[in-house]
Amino acid sequence: MEIIRKVELLRRRVEEEKQCGRSVGLVPTMGALHAGHVSLIDRARKENDIVVVSVFVNPTQFNNPEDLRTYPRTEEADCEKLTNAGVDIAFIPSVDEVYPEPDTRVFDLGPVAKVMEGAMRPGHFNGVAQIVSKLFDMVRPHRAYFGEKDFQQIAVIRRMTELEGFNIEIIDCPIKREADGLAMSSRNVRLTAYQRAIAPNIYRTLQESLEIAKFKTVEQTRQYVINTIDDIDELEVEYYEIVDAKTMQPIKNWTDCETAVGCVTVYCGDVRLIDNIKYQ
Ligand code: PAF
Repeated sequence: MEIIRKVELLRRRVEEEKQCGRSVGLVPTMGALHAGHVSLIDRARKENDIVVVSVFVNPTQFNNPEDLRTYPRTEEADCEKLTNAGVDIAFIPSVDEVYPEPDTRVFDLGPVAKVMEGAMRPGHFNGVAQIVSKLFDMVRPHRAYFGEKDFQQIAVIRRMTELEGFNIEIIDCPIKREADGLAMSSRNVRLTAYQRAIAPNIYRTLQESLEIAKFKTVEQTRQYVINTIDDIDELEVEYYEIVDAKTMQPIKNWTDCETAVGCVTVYCGDVRLIDNIKYQ
């Protein structure tokens, strides 16, 4: 595996591969890699000749400096995982390399970016759009791969891709879960042993809500999830919204959309965990 730290070298190497007629898949990550990332890489390897993985903790998408400071950074272990996963190029730049000057671009991300994470984390999605658009511009991949754990993020990235006119196929990949149902996340390593044992209750409650939804209204189902999780020691729901999977807007009736998705953010102690479930 080639490790590249400079933007110009990355551009040149990817261009060489494309000149030889090879297709390129990009998997953007912030490192602290786990089996969820590896599943994206596996998919990218099946569908492309060359796989590029970026490992970059993007400061512009953190609205909380403490979250940025404590975000796990595990470059050595990440490189080992990337090598084992058969990645061709790992792009691991410094902050100065990606942002030689402050990125002042403000993206018009529309309604998909205004609710849920957009409302709770001001500036977060603009920061995601900044870094992903930069990576798209540097690599110009044929396809880019994102995990459905960050369900709303994918909708935002689709919008940015359209706005910027990138000819890149956005591929969403299913959530990878631990054996007990907890959605895999780089943040899970910050859970204490006790919190780690409690955290699977988030997905358990989401699954239970699939049954509740069969005979209750959207609002009753929403309240069920919030109350059930809030009743569990160490867990506190920040939001639970049941939204149209296409528009990310909260729905009132189950018949309001083709596919409804319940998106939850829960504090487990001070660790912020997110998850989601599809209702139809
Ligand atoms: O989902 C993530 O890990 C990040 O938001 C992404 C897409 C790599 C951009 O920094």
